[in-house]
Amino acid sequence: MNDYIKSTKNLSEAEIENSLRPVRLADYVGQDKIKESLKIYIDASKKRGEALDHVLLYGPPGLGKTTLSHIIASELGVQLKITSGPAIEHAADLASILTTLQKNDVLFIDEIHRLSRSVEEVLYPAMEDYALDFIVGKGPSARNMRLKLQPFTLVGATTKAGNIAGPLRDRFGIILRLEMYTDEELASIINRSAGLLDVKVEKDAVLEIAKRSRGTPRIANRLLKRVRDYAEVKSENGVVTLSLAREALRLMDIDEKGLDYLDRKLLLSLIEKFRGGPVGVETLATSIGEEVATIEDVYEPYLIRLGFIARTPRGRIALDKAYKHLGIKVPSFLGAEQLKIETEEEE
Ligand SMILES: Nc1ncnc2c1ncn2[C@@H]1O[C@H](COP(=O)(O)OP(=O)(O)OP(=O)(O)O)[C@@H](O)[C@H]1O
Ligand SMILES: [Mg+2]
Repeated sequence: MNDYIKSTKNLSEAEIENSLRPVRLADYVGQDKIKESLKIYIDASKKRGEALDHVLLYGPPGLGKTTLSHIIASELGVQLKITSGPAIEHAADLASILTTLQKNDVLFIDEIHRLSRSVEEVLYPAMEDYALDFIVGKGPSARNMRLKLQPFTLVGATTKAGNIAGPLRDRFGIILRLEMYTDEELASIINRSAGLLDVKVEKDAVLEIAKRSRGTPRIANRLLKRVRDYAEVKSENGVVTLSLAREALRLMDIDEKGLDYLDRKLLLSLIEKFRGGPVGVETLATSIGEEVATIEDVYEPYLIRLGFIARTPRGRIALDKAYKHLGIKVPSFLGAEQLKIETEEEE
């Protein structure tokens, strides 16, 4: 443990993130339904000696998609090859990756919604028949050739299931949606990470960090690391107490609900500049100088889960809980009528 800690001191954030990744399904906290079904599918495919069906994982950033792809490969006892949508520029790049796969290996494609159309075309026969189709020669003598591949499992991850082409989506046998974590689940992730990082965190401090982690393990781990830094400097024994955790989080400008400066800026803009909406996401993005994609992927899922805002067919609206959280008087027009506006499906 001590050697390990000495070595984590000089690691980058990304390396620490990797070191905190659970490796077995049993150590993966929460997502019980996903774990239960994956375990059955994995056991069944191992029994048959066949490749696991292709898996699509979707959900907001930091909920454990990449982690789960590693776990799937290690539970299957096969090799994992990792790439991403934007990294595969040409069809030939994907073809050459596919030909290196061994029997029942896992190929993980992160941000799979960003694959180009021509690359997707290569993926279809590969997923369906474990084959590569290509044309040899030109003009009248051109012939279709088919190259057999080893059976493999494609694990695709995306924050935007809605952006995946229908034909691609249909070729996944297992589609899993990751949910945000409860405070108790986050607390158990924080406890696990605290053990790995060798930092002592009191029980109520763990829960305090969990409550402010926006339902997201990556944020929970990040806050834990910052709080640990704070404790190292401010406390004699390095133990993280509740008051110390609160102090550290206040310094980071993270409030009791886990909202940061930009969340509050977004809510304030919605409420003050646009009278609580409805306002289009593009307009909202411009008003706070953020990308639309960042708002949709990073900020909104949690604000929607808190019941602070809603997506309606006419745009985003602020709900009464947002006013209350910010200490702003709930306007009278925000009555039953606005709350009844049917909210769009999340996906
Ligand atoms: N269920 C879990 N149990 C324990 N730790 C987890 C869990 N899910 C995620 N984590 C931790 O959170 C960190 C982020 O997870 P991960 O990188 O898998 O998220 P992601 O969904 O791939 O995010 P992105 O969409 O940004 O790629 C990991 O380092 C891991 O330690
Ligand atoms: Mg990831």
